[in-house]
Amino acid sequence: MNKLLLAPSILSADFTRLGEELAACESAKADWIHIDVMDGHFVPNITMGPFIVEACQRATKLPLDVHLMIEKPERHLEAFAKAGASHIIVHIEACPHIHRTLQQIQALGCKAGVALNPGTPVGAIDAVLDEADQVLVMSVNPGYSGQKFISSTVGKVREIRKKLDGLKSPARLEVDGGIDAATLPQMKKAGADAFVAATAIFKHPHGTKAGIKDLQSAIRST
Ligand code: DX5
Ligand code: ZN
Repeated sequence: MNKLLLAPSILSADFTRLGEELAACESAKADWIHIDVMDGHFVPNITMGPFIVEACQRATKLPLDVHLMIEKPERHLEAFAKAGASHIIVHIEACPHIHRTLQQIQALGCKAGVALNPGTPVGAIDAVLDEADQVLVMSVNPGYSGQKFISSTVGKVREIRKKLDGLKSPARLEVDGGIDAATLPQMKKAGADAFVAATAIFKHPHGTKAGIKDLQSAIRST
């Protein structure tokens, strides 16, 4: 089984102090930095692009887990790879040629991930389960941090874990949306091995490091 990893999503970070926020993640021993890219089309919100990825890459040594919530992501893969992305995740709902897109990401030297929305059935990614380096199950509808966890997604994680194990795939199974100390254990039990969190970390009442510590102990103790 893969080591369990925590990936703070900077969507809820204080961008006036992004360098300090990243340093706090690194010193609290977070594993990856998750960067949410939104285009105002695939999702209603607009957030960050390669420019921010490049700034993060200068400010931290942690792997950058870049989640593209954009239409036609294939047009931007090279820019994100050049900016320093370690992993690039695309949505199945935005990729009619998903094998080609994952192969393009791998050819750029990045790990290739496929994400699915809460309303998308697991079967939609069957065809690429043995090619993806990472599968990202959204546990909220993408677009914003701070939304309520959709508990029907736990069953999807269980189903995907079974399929990955059946294929003997080493792919990461990542969960994203509404992850906190209460929901993380449910996703862990279902077989997730990478946990993204924005609000529970960056809006923690005692600060970013305390948010990371809380989730790390949820990862360990359940
Ligand atoms: C949602 C993004 C998530 C988001 C998670 O569209 O993909 O990564 O930042 O935020 P929380 O942890 O607050 O649900
Ligand atoms: Zn995300």
